[in-house]
Amino acid sequence: MTAHSTSSLAVVVLAAGLGKRMFSQKPKVLHELLGEPMLGHVLTAAAALQPSKIVVVCGHGRAQVEAFVQTWTQRQRASLPAGLQPRCVEQPYQGGTGHAVLCAQPEWSDCDEVLILYGDTPLLTTETLGELRRARGQGVLSLLVGELADPSGYGRVIRDAHGQVSRIIEHKDADATTRAIGLINAGMMCVAAPFLATALPQLRPDNAQGELYLTDLLALAAAAGSPGNPHLVDDRREIAGVNNRAELATATAHLRERINRSWQVQGVTFDNPATTSVGAAVTLNADCHLGAQVELRGATTIGAGARIDTGCVLTDCEVAENAHIFPYCVATAATIGPRAHVGPFAHLRTGTVLESEVKVGNFVETKKAHLGPRAKASHLSYLGDAEIGADCNIGAGTITCNYDGVDKFRTILGRGVFIGSDSQLVAPITLGDDAYVGAGTTVTADVPAGALVVTRAATTVKLGWVAKKRQARAAAKASGADATRPAGPAESH
Ligand code: UD1
Ligand code: MG
Repeated sequence: MTAHSTSSLAVVVLAAGLGKRMFSQKPKVLHELLGEPMLGHVLTAAAALQPSKIVVVCGHGRAQVEAFVQTWTQRQRASLPAGLQPRCVEQPYQGGTGHAVLCAQPEWSDCDEVLILYGDTPLLTTETLGELRRARGQGVLSLLVGELADPSGYGRVIRDAHGQVSRIIEHKDADATTRAIGLINAGMMCVAAPFLATALPQLRPDNAQGELYLTDLLALAAAAGSPGNPHLVDDRREIAGVNNRAELATATAHLRERINRSWQVQGVTFDNPATTSVGAAVTLNADCHLGAQVELRGATTIGAGARIDTGCVLTDCEVAENAHIFPYCVATAATIGPRAHVGPFAHLRTGTVLESEVKVGNFVETKKAHLGPRAKASHLSYLGDAEIGADCNIGAGTITCNYDGVDKFRTILGRGVFIGSDSQLVAPITLGDDAYVGAGTTVTADVPAGALVVTRAATTVKLGWVAKKRQARAAAKASGADATRPAGPAESH
């Protein structure tokens, strides 16, 4: 399909608004819901329609918005239609919604159909956008409308005898009778590009706000004999714009509920769905079980039957089937194998790979550590830049000393290595299969397979030493000597 074919679609996202009520250094459309900026949610919903063009109209915070659009494009590359390169155009001043679409004209002028969206309505679904397109039919324009109990602030929709839209009157320009109309313009429109190109130059800023109103297209379309086709959105949460942080929190709660519900009906158990957040790009599988206050972020995947307990925060992780993550673990860019057990209170950092049935227990931190099948690090360890073979047992308090203050070095353990508690492995270092490290050892040289290494000082046991020490103290006190001076073992012998 070329950009000139009969069904080519351009999506124009209006995002030049100031967002004054956010009181933020950050442009409004970059504020996040479940880890994704509002604009990202809108772009993702629109991209699923396979448009030929996506154009974002930027104004305030343009550089930041452009940078995000680039990041989003790279991230979505695999799912975007070939050759689609979303672009940003600048609206140099706030001339109104009609002016914003005019600024984007060079981008959409060779398309047939233009879908106009707002960057601050993050809950709009692809399904509704598809319905908006279909509602246009052979007409020149369709628009999303909603019934609101409190329509104040919105443009009111005036319909003709056939139920089609002959006009929109903005709240600020409306009289009391018009303001009593409950049917509002949600703002999103689908317009035939040739009509848009003819109508936009006819807009005039002769209104209360002195702006070019996109909504004046309705009267122009009606005058041209093709009044707008309204599509009523039943779920008004979908068309709710976000203007302040309270609305951002409400929209986030709605999105959370929508996402969680969709997983619940696909066989995922949530102990407390109101407190558990699953990002839009997360994949879950049937029979996985999420505890309260779990956060799954980025491109995390959780396998069938896996269990993630209370308070875990996983970002870009892959958790295999039937793994169990106990409460309060934090993991980033980690791969967790089938039936592995992690936590409670473990920290898996970037590049951690745990193979099947690995056990990582409380207060263990891993970074770029690969633990082979059935390896165990049950308590209180730091494993960084480490290759740990199958069936190794890492005792409590083991530290890989991977950093000399300048460079990082690797620790390599063969299969079945046993590391006694409270040992340090000073990297770079390699321990062969079945090597055995005695507790309290600082290993500074490679250890061959099957060898024992121990650097612990020999144990000294002195029978009756305590009693002798006490007697010496008592005697010193009786003779008036300074009893506060410690009488250590070195002095008493
Ligand atoms: C607009 C509609 C109104 C509708 C309401 C729904 C017009 C004239 N009015 O009003 O009928 O009920 O949305 O929320 O269209 N923007 C720009 N450049 C501009 C002005 C706006 O990019 O010069 C962007 C904003 O960032 C925002 C969107 O367009 O994303 C809507 O602008 P806003 O000022 O919120 O319009 P409303 O007055 O709410
Ligand atoms: Mg608005």
